[in-house]
Amino acid sequence: MSSLINQPEWQHLSTLAKSVKDKHMRDWFAAEPNRAEKMQASGCGIFLDYSKNRVNDDIMQGLMALANAQGLEKLRDNMFSGKQINQTEGRAVLHTALRNLSDKPVYVDNEDVMPEIRQTLKKMRTFTESVHSGEHTGYTGKAIKHVVAIGIGGSFLGPKIMTEALKPYQHDAVDVHFVANVDGCHINDVLSRVDHEETLIVMSSKSFSTQETLQNTQSAKTWFLRCGGAQKDIASHFVAVSSNVEAATEFGIARENIFPMWDWVGGRYSLWSAIGLPICLSLGFEHFQSLLEGAYDMDKHFCETPLEKNLPVIMGMLGIWYRNFFDAQSHVLLPYYHYLRGLPAYVQQLDMESNGKQVTQSGEVVDYQTGPIIWGSEGTNGQHSFHQLIHQGTSLIPADFMLPLNVPEQNDTHHAMLASNCFGQAQALMQGKTYDECYADLADADLDEATRKNIAQHKTMPGNKPSNTLLFEALTPQTLGSLIALYEHKVFVQGAIWQVNSFDQWGVELGKALGNQVLDGIVGDADEANFDGSTRQLIAHFQRANAQK
Ligand code: F6P
Repeated sequence: MSSLINQPEWQHLSTLAKSVKDKHMRDWFAAEPNRAEKMQASGCGIFLDYSKNRVNDDIMQGLMALANAQGLEKLRDNMFSGKQINQTEGRAVLHTALRNLSDKPVYVDNEDVMPEIRQTLKKMRTFTESVHSGEHTGYTGKAIKHVVAIGIGGSFLGPKIMTEALKPYQHDAVDVHFVANVDGCHINDVLSRVDHEETLIVMSSKSFSTQETLQNTQSAKTWFLRCGGAQKDIASHFVAVSSNVEAATEFGIARENIFPMWDWVGGRYSLWSAIGLPICLSLGFEHFQSLLEGAYDMDKHFCETPLEKNLPVIMGMLGIWYRNFFDAQSHVLLPYYHYLRGLPAYVQQLDMESNGKQVTQSGEVVDYQTGPIIWGSEGTNGQHSFHQLIHQGTSLIPADFMLPLNVPEQNDTHHAMLASNCFGQAQALMQGKTYDECYADLADADLDEATRKNIAQHKTMPGNKPSNTLLFEALTPQTLGSLIALYEHKVFVQGAIWQVNSFDQWGVELGKALGNQVLDGIVGDADEANFDGSTRQLIAHFQRANAQK
């Protein structure tokens, strides 16, 4: 049994879990009139109501005791100070340095990295302003009106979802399109809608070796040349963001058009780097700067706030409570705000690619659960799709509700309905509806006794389904920055408790390698013996369907 499960703090939580398994939150709210006021925390303009969780004071204290026993604060300080906590890749983890607005240095290999970070931000600002002002034009002298941002994973999700979330702040100079999938439909769909003379391609790839991004960028170059551009004009229409400057240069991107990033920034933590260039081009640099400021505020909150009032720690440890003591397999995000509809997909990569691990930092296979499945969608849409299962299914699925208290183009009726659905759903999940209440409701129904009992059973809502509710005044760039950093640090907290490396992603390597072998099997002359019977059969079907082409 692992040292983690043997920890007295873990054992204590296990005992507490058994003691509350049959307790209902409905009864706790009845017994504690001040429960909601007690179980709340705030920071960076974000209010967290965590009273609808299956916890009491003893449990919260027990969770914080586990965090302390695991040395959470020391591990946190190691990250911020540039220690190589990504041990398998021998790297520091310093996405926090990208938004370090203090005048403190941050050292990597004894070198202060802040000057080059500031230099890159300056390059991003200057370039953005030159595009917006019309100073930077295409090869025929036309202003840039379209940006096509090509990237995948962390080189796509951050820019796309932040741009979408901040649509009310969009700059009117350019429209920004995103391409990620290697499915040609994606890039063809986008390129069919833009004029090459007015289009800037932003190719983002930290490694500059991701098949999808290289192929999409190659196709964009082919499109550009076919539309009339010449090789010499590429420099006016293609820029790249990468830590692999040599590969980008070899690919044909002019060196002055390459925005650097660093290997101590993980892909899923990179929107604060030059990977955020499409955000700047879409919104203007000032709003990107506000995004950084919000993240910096949350960094300070995470570093300076006592654990029991620390938003990322509270949310992270509540996640541990359900994952490891209630066997919850997933966690659902329910943003009640249309522009934040992409957040579940963003947090999905952030969380699942960070903590979807089975081995501790020291190489032992874990004997406890680690990262949960993250999913969700905007409210109120989910209520007409998967909320049935959350209310009456057999899985315990903790939920994060979130709602801006004010929205642009505020329509009081619409917004009141949005808020009432958000709060009503959280209340229904918590209190449920008993069999007796459902049976009583059917008093006037024209049903025989047996049917009445049966229907009452079907209508019973167990409740006791946990949720957090996050409120914020409005989704400004600053608040969004704080919200994203909140989830980054929540993921960090959980990875620290589980003792996994949250910052590598070896699990994606095999699929990439086998995909390349299968590609060779489809278009090349790879020996069929390399493949199992199923893959061989699938390749044969694909080849038959495309033989005549
Ligand atoms: O999914 C694997 C991954 O390496 C992610 O971590 C990363 O965000 C994505 O692929 C894209 O990588 P790159 O930015 O190097 O093209």
